[in-house]
Amino acid sequence: MRCLILYYSMTGQAEKAATQAARAAVEAGWDATLCRIGMSDPADALARPMNIAASKKWTQGAQKGIMVPIAFDPPDAPDARYDAVLLFSNTWGDNPSVPIRSFLESDQAKALFAGTPVGVYIVCRRLWQNNLRIVRELVEQAGGHVLAGEAFMHPGGQWGSLIQTITYLYRTDSGRTHFLGFPLPRYGLSDEAMARIPGFTGALLAPAATNQEGKA
Ligand SMILES: Cc1cc2nc3c(=O)[nH]c(=O)nc-3n(C[C@H](O)[C@H](O)[C@H](O)COP(=O)(O)O)c2cc1C
Repeated sequence: MRCLILYYSMTGQAEKAATQAARAAVEAGWDATLCRIGMSDPADALARPMNIAASKKWTQGAQKGIMVPIAFDPPDAPDARYDAVLLFSNTWGDNPSVPIRSFLESDQAKALFAGTPVGVYIVCRRLWQNNLRIVRELVEQAGGHVLAGEAFMHPGGQWGSLIQTITYLYRTDSGRTHFLGFPLPRYGLSDEAMARIPGFTGALLAPAATNQEGKA
C-alpha cells in the first residue's frame, strides 16, 4: 500500500506535521512518499521577514483564489499511483494557501486524485473551517474522495496566536515571548496538535487499506 503525503510549508509547521504523518504511515505498514509543493517562480517565494505588501498580497491572493506556478520535490512523486493521499493545507486569510489551491486546481491533481481516498490536515494558527470546506470541494471536484479532515492549530486563544503569528512573520527570530507585558503563546503547532497526528493518520489509513484489499 502506497501513500503520497503532500504539503507546502513556509514556516516549517506543515513540514513538521507531514513528517510526523509519514512516520505514522510507515509504522502502519505503508510505503509513504513525502512530497513538498513549492512555488516555481522565485519571485513568488515567501520568506521571513515578510513585509506588509507581501503579507497583504498573499493573504488577499488566497482569499481571491489566485493561482501560481508550482513545482514538486521530488519532481516525479505525483506521477505514480497511490492507494491514499494525505494533504496538508495551511490557512492563509481563512482559505487554503495559494500553492495548495494552485495544486488542487491543477490537471496533476485530477490525475492523482481520480478515485483515490484523501485525508486532509488543516495546518493553521486558528481559522480552519473555511479552509477545510474549500479543500473538500476541490478534492471532490478533482475526482478524489475525502475520508476525513481535521484541524491542527497553534497554541493560545484567538488573540495570543494572532499577535504571535503576525509578529513572527515580520521577524527572523523564534518569536516574541510578551506583548505589552502579556505573555504570548509560542509560535507553531501545539504539542496537543502534534500528538494527534499519528492517531489521525492511522485512523485514515486503516479504512483505505481495507477498501483496497476488498478491491483486490
Ligand atoms: C500570508 C499568510 C496568511 C495567513 N493567514 C492566516 C489566517 O487567516 N488564519 C490563520 O489561522 N492563520 C493564518 N496564517 C498562519 C498559518 O496558517 C500558520 O502560521 C501555519 O502554521 C503556517 O504553516 P507553515 O509553517 O507550514 O507555512 C497565515 C500565514 C501566512 C504566511
